[in-house]
Amino acid sequence: MTHTSEQSNFDLQPDDFGQDFIWGVSTAAYQIEGAHNIHGKGTSIWDDFVSKKGNIFEDQHGQIACDFYNRYRDDILLMKSMNIKHYRFSLSWSRILPDGTGRVNQKGIEFYNDVINFCLKCGITPWVTLYHWDLPQNLEDIGGWTNRKILDWFEDYVKICAKNFGDRVKHWMVLNEPMVFTGAGYFLGVHAPGKKGLKNFLPAIHHAVLCQALGGRLLRKMVSDAIIGTTFSCSQITPQSDSKRDMKAADKADALLNRLFLEPSLGLGYPDESIAVLKKIKKYEQPEDAQNSIFEFDFIGIQNYTREVVRHSYTVPYLRAKIVKAPERNVQTTLMDWEVHPPSIYEMLKKFNTYRGVKKILITENGAAFEDTMEAGEVNDIERTNYLKSYLKQVHKASSEDLKISGYFVWTFTDNFEWAEGYYPRFGLVHIDFDTLERTIKASGKWYSTFLGRKKS
Ligand code: NOJ
Repeated sequence: MTHTSEQSNFDLQPDDFGQDFIWGVSTAAYQIEGAHNIHGKGTSIWDDFVSKKGNIFEDQHGQIACDFYNRYRDDILLMKSMNIKHYRFSLSWSRILPDGTGRVNQKGIEFYNDVINFCLKCGITPWVTLYHWDLPQNLEDIGGWTNRKILDWFEDYVKICAKNFGDRVKHWMVLNEPMVFTGAGYFLGVHAPGKKGLKNFLPAIHHAVLCQALGGRLLRKMVSDAIIGTTFSCSQITPQSDSKRDMKAADKADALLNRLFLEPSLGLGYPDESIAVLKKIKKYEQPEDAQNSIFEFDFIGIQNYTREVVRHSYTVPYLRAKIVKAPERNVQTTLMDWEVHPPSIYEMLKKFNTYRGVKKILITENGAAFEDTMEAGEVNDIERTNYLKSYLKQVHKASSEDLKISGYFVWTFTDNFEWAEGYYPRFGLVHIDFDTLERTIKASGKWYSTFLGRKKS
């Protein structure tokens, strides 16, 4: 819908958000690295999932992706030239432990050492996500996130990361959007590993909750001065009407999409008063689990893109709630068919601020995919620039109301592999020509860089 060709007003400066406010960009290993099978890397569930016909838009894959593995120096230099001082990226478990556990691949360790050292050399602080969805396939073959043994596997992996990188990496995130990797990967089957149904979803949820806290505890023990967080997808939920049934549906969607992974970590348990079927998680619980799900994170990362309008529906099992898709609602959407709704990010900040146990909040992802066109060597992506400005205004509103908010990372630095949607939705501040792998800073990237350049401190 509504396309605009004009830049919207934006007169905020970085320091208006506070002098210590963190500004950065985010990426994830599988979406950018490529080099899927070289230098000893093992197969991950995404390597496997993309190889099966029909799983990904036009059967695309991340075998080469942005070739970050070979071009990380240039990309980090480009970041530096754009005044970006904080870089959030993830580690590929199967590059470090090709079989998931046991044998360590020194080449994988070397690669991340190089990336970390180069960031530091360029004055860029690395923010490392331990798990951004690319589980080693060997572990999936024996159940993956549905197998309680994942607690041991994850422990091995986290220890190796903490031991090898903890002297230089002080900012860590344990999981990326557990709701998405369990929901899309183990309930709907639209992401790797393509499993479906409650029998996979419920144990995957429970084990992810336990690993979230376990990872935090291990980092706390092994990395001195570590600042430890974990990240959550979240969306403002609006009931389609104020009927009792729609309100109830909205409450269920909120419990599922916004509360499911945070609340157990705060000692509040699963939100099963809203979603009764979550009571079945008990089947997978052991006596100490509720206690072991708790970890006092230094911060939580929230990742917001859109809002969801929700209505009651008899046809949706367990939830009786249905998302009214944005294209049916006559609103502005991105290429993901997500509504552009800037107040959502403010509402989410407000919501997560109400939890007493949440100490700090950063926006660890926000951004948008739009149809980009390259003309005379330039990408004039006004819609993305306006999107970022309008969401940032809402972040500023939260900050000026003294809500906790201490950082903002754009998703994402360069165009990349957008999971099941392949390369079609471009989210980058930097355009990539996927034939030549040439990088071109888009207008949005130039805007962000000029904005960051105004930082005084
Ligand atoms: C959330 C995920 O963390 C990231 O991998 C994905 O590309 C973006 N959102 C956009 O969908």
